[in-house]
Amino acid sequence: MNKSAAAERILKLRTQINEYRYHYHVLDESIMSEAAADSLKHELSQLEEQFPDLITADSPTQRVAGTPSSRFTKITHSQRMLSLNDVFGRDEVQAWADRINKLTPGATTELFADTKMDGLACAIVYIDGVFTQAVTRGDGTVGEDVTANVRTIESVPLQLRVFDKTSNPDLARFLTGRTEIRGEIVMLRKNFEALNAANEAAGKPLFANPRNLAAGTIRQLDPKLVAARHLNFYGYDLLRDDPTEVPTYSFTYQAIRALGLAASQHATTFTSIDALMAFIEQWDQKRKTLPFNTDGLVVKVDNRTTYRELGIVGKAPRGAIAFKYAAEEATTIVKDIVISIGRTGAATPIATFDPALVAGTTVQHASLHNADEIARLDVRVGDTVIIYKAGDIIPKVQESLPKLRPAGSKPFNMEAELARQYPELEFERPEGEVIYRVKGATGPLFLAKALEHYASKSALDIDTLGEKNVIALVDSGFVTDPADIYILTVENLLGLDRFGEISARKLVDAIQASKTPTLPRFIYALGIRHVGEQTALDLAEVFGTLENLSAATLEQLEAVEGIGTVVAESILAWFSDDDNQDLLAKFTHLGVRPQPFAKTTGPLTGVNFVITGTLEMGSRDQAAARLVALGAKEQNSVTKDTTYLIVGENPGGSKLAKAEKLKIQLIDEQRLEGLLNA
Ligand code: IVH
Repeated sequence: MNKSAAAERILKLRTQINEYRYHYHVLDESIMSEAAADSLKHELSQLEEQFPDLITADSPTQRVAGTPSSRFTKITHSQRMLSLNDVFGRDEVQAWADRINKLTPGATTELFADTKMDGLACAIVYIDGVFTQAVTRGDGTVGEDVTANVRTIESVPLQLRVFDKTSNPDLARFLTGRTEIRGEIVMLRKNFEALNAANEAAGKPLFANPRNLAAGTIRQLDPKLVAARHLNFYGYDLLRDDPTEVPTYSFTYQAIRALGLAASQHATTFTSIDALMAFIEQWDQKRKTLPFNTDGLVVKVDNRTTYRELGIVGKAPRGAIAFKYAAEEATTIVKDIVISIGRTGAATPIATFDPALVAGTTVQHASLHNADEIARLDVRVGDTVIIYKAGDIIPKVQESLPKLRPAGSKPFNMEAELARQYPELEFERPEGEVIYRVKGATGPLFLAKALEHYASKSALDIDTLGEKNVIALVDSGFVTDPADIYILTVENLLGLDRFGEISARKLVDAIQASKTPTLPRFIYALGIRHVGEQTALDLAEVFGTLENLSAATLEQLEAVEGIGTVVAESILAWFSDDDNQDLLAKFTHLGVRPQPFAKTTGPLTGVNFVITGTLEMGSRDQAAARLVALGAKEQNSVTKDTTYLIVGENPGGSKLAKAEKLKIQLIDEQRLEGLLNA
């Protein structure tokens, strides 16, 4: 992105993030999930990192959350309440460790990690052991006095005592003077669920999540109501006028607990990044069993002197990070909306995205289903959208963020796009339906064409499954998609006029014999628009298996020689069409296994061959597989690059003629045996 585009994008991101923050922190409402907002913030901070002179003092990256509400007395914090920079993934943890080790060699010798609770930060002040004041974070410098409300939280002692007599005797000193304990106020999931259930029964509005409910509760003016809502407090920091009284974070947690407050039991120290990463991975699943919500871990330098010396950049200490687990939602930009035509002629619009990480996997396309759904979401090319995974698997667009829309964008026009992307076809939208279909292509006709292609010589080469048999099968209703042919029985066929005992058996055998096609033939057979035999071969060579191809990113597809954006998008659209995924699953279920394609090197590497006619040694596929295993490459038609045309009984006339014209060497089965055994 160039600088002026970045400046424009930064401005839009800031507006959207500020709006989110205002709703979240001031009104206790949520206009989008935290994950989606984090995703936008991440994009903003990356752009600002790339163009540091575009950073302004009022950027959301430059200050701590929230404007104090006017309803509570303002209190200036004894020390600023900072927030943390987010990191995602091992590389970013390592980069952080490297950075601070450079500043202070050995900084990460001892690390301290704890789950990151999803609540609101609060500072509780004890004077001579007596609960005196509780202040929300506010803007980090000035917070709100919520003493009366926090007083109702049962897990907060009103008087500090050294409850745990076995611990360090030095703890008694925290009972005199000023001891500030900072931590997180959370609402346990079970309390949240009970409250929402009660609200639902009473027809009252529901709260979006426990964090919102906790924040809303703590700002209630009536402490009785707060008491009824059962909040919890977990400490994570202890401040004394003399900081040397609290040497490490591991000691801090011990002290908090010994003084009668809750602190996480799961916090641990680490002496290597490997051990820390193992802990992080372990907690990805385990955190779901905690009584409160967590979206990551906090990792700090355990030694508090080192931590302090590392200093602060902007709003966050250098000595700590928040590791965020894979978000269930993310934001990304719609690169294009491509239309996939399914086997029944139905047109499905599919959005392709800049790759985004959602729930641990890279997402780069999602079906938009139909024109009505696009209109409902008002998704346009160039839009920033929130995406999520439905049922944790299928990527979906949740909403588009119109505030981040580029100037001059136009609503998506399905009819205009159909005409642009498929100039050779005509479409109609049958009354009462939401789906556009190829005009005149009633399901059966379209299916017959797809099946004929699937069985054709260059594809799966299923003997006797030509046009007439295909039409008979489709008309009979036995076959509703190409995978159905694998369930056909001789009895099924005998019920149709066209078949006798012998022809029925022959067809069923031929179909069953086609269950292990070579990968290029199978890819070609799928009938993906713009994927001819050569492209299928190139794809098989690069991706090796259908699974790999199905998961390929747009970038990976475009990197294949000879494949441009149009073809790459068509492939991506085909694999993101739910119908097609169902078809692939059905093939697998019925035992159709395209052979993994390894670009083998061997004595025949560099040899390109085409087989025509029947061979005595076995099927053409079997012969081809043996040649490929020796490094040769099978071509589906004779080209100037063909080395040999292997000629069996009853060869195809056009292949022979072409080979003769191009002066390609012809070899018979005997020579073929020689090649295979050389
Ligand atoms: S340590 C400089 N430990 O996360 C702040 N914070 O993004 C260091 N949080 O403001 C805080 N669980 O409200 C720490 N175990 C934990 C935490 C935790 C939740 C919150 C806290 C903080 C924010 C930082």
